[in-house]
Amino acid sequence: MKKPWEKSLPALLLVVVGLLVAQFLSFREELLPDKIYIHTQPAGAQISSPGARSVHGFQLKPLVKAPGPVPLERSEKSRFTFVLDLWGYEQEVIRLTPEDFERRIEVRLTPKIPLLVPALYFIRDYIFSFLALALTAGFSVAVVIPQVKQRAHQSRLRKEGKLIPGLVLNDYRLIRKLGEGGAGSVFLCDKREESRDVLYAVKFLLEGTGDEAAFQQECKTCRDLRHPGIVALLDWGQGLGFHYIVFDFVEGKTLDEVEEPSVKDVCAWSLEVVSALNYAHKKKVVHRDIKPANILLTAEGRAKILDFGIAATLDSDEHNSAGTAGYMAPEQLKGEVSPACDFYSLGVTVYRLLAGRVPFDGAGFFQIMAAQTRQDYQPLQKVRSDVPSGLSELVDALLRAEPQERLKDPNEIERRLTQFSE
Ligand SMILES: Nc1ncnc2c1ncn2[C@@H]1O[C@H](COP(=O)(O)OP(=O)(O)O)[C@@H](O)[C@H]1O
Ligand SMILES: [Mg+2]
Repeated sequence: MKKPWEKSLPALLLVVVGLLVAQFLSFREELLPDKIYIHTQPAGAQISSPGARSVHGFQLKPLVKAPGPVPLERSEKSRFTFVLDLWGYEQEVIRLTPEDFERRIEVRLTPKIPLLVPALYFIRDYIFSFLALALTAGFSVAVVIPQVKQRAHQSRLRKEGKLIPGLVLNDYRLIRKLGEGGAGSVFLCDKREESRDVLYAVKFLLEGTGDEAAFQQECKTCRDLRHPGIVALLDWGQGLGFHYIVFDFVEGKTLDEVEEPSVKDVCAWSLEVVSALNYAHKKKVVHRDIKPANILLTAEGRAKILDFGIAATLDSDEHNSAGTAGYMAPEQLKGEVSPACDFYSLGVTVYRLLAGRVPFDGAGFFQIMAAQTRQDYQPLQKVRSDVPSGLSELVDALLRAEPQERLKDPNEIERRLTQFSE
């Protein structure tokens, strides 16, 4: 988006060019035949001719400027003595002969106060150039110099690889850091749009330090997802060496920041997540990283999925084993991708939110996977007594190690969650 000063730049350039043209035209000389040309330096002297009708008010301009032709006929000899008067200059008397016709008569007047008076006339004669110069200088001081300074400051920050509040990147102004994840930092930013500041959450990837391919993948998979349960991706780009993705800013906190939520709330949020996942799955997108840190809770208490950073499309054969240990389904670690992976992670998320810890724990991926395969975990109801057995069983069904045995029908999951969300 263009800044106000950028919008006014063409108009300003037009004014400056106009002033320079006006100055040039005022220098143009016009020679007429059969006239006498008296140039005074400076221009504008009043000419009188004693002993004849005076020719008062004649505007004569300096040599470089258009002279005022004195309309005299050759026969009017009586007028060949002229008195030149100009404010601030000594009076000058000149005598001309008939040979002076169609010639330049140059008269340099003597100032009463040297330097000062000529300086005043100099300003008068070059006023358009001065105005153009003043406008350009004013514009430079007011706009260009701060811009240049800001650019220099930003390029220094860029070299240092720093994202700090105040930095402006392609019109997005960083306000404060919202969070940090594996792929980069997320900042609250504002952008001037139709004379108001709109807030966005912008995720930045520092060039050379993050996984650029995954970043691009997030843009591709997420750009068409529009659902109340998914944080909308609005724009992406590159500037000052950073790749960035622009999201709707969601005022709230992530589910991992919520302390001891009630069973009812967790079920209500899960219902929203299931609906969003079902929508994404129909669009052939599997999130692959469902966990409390990737679910935002809005100020109105609604859950929204974010971070499609490692999402995969069901069409593609190339799948890596990315995911979060403890949350990802065992088959995901082997590179398999299906909607069942997301429902497994949802099961872990519900467990974690209600129990305060994940069901399967271990020192590394493989210990965790071993526990997952053995189904070695404490049922949710045993860890938290106010969890209804129906909900504990639902979580068990989601945590099945084999995707074939796992509950993955969204309608069934929704039906069972609904009982405990009211
Ligand atoms: N749209 C948003 N509105 C508000 N906060 C956000 C938004 N997107 C991300 N965040 C914050 O930034 C954190 C990291 O974002 P995320 O997309 O998960 O990045 P990563 O891929 O690095 O994990 C989130 O946990 C959340 O706190
Ligand atoms: Mg994340």
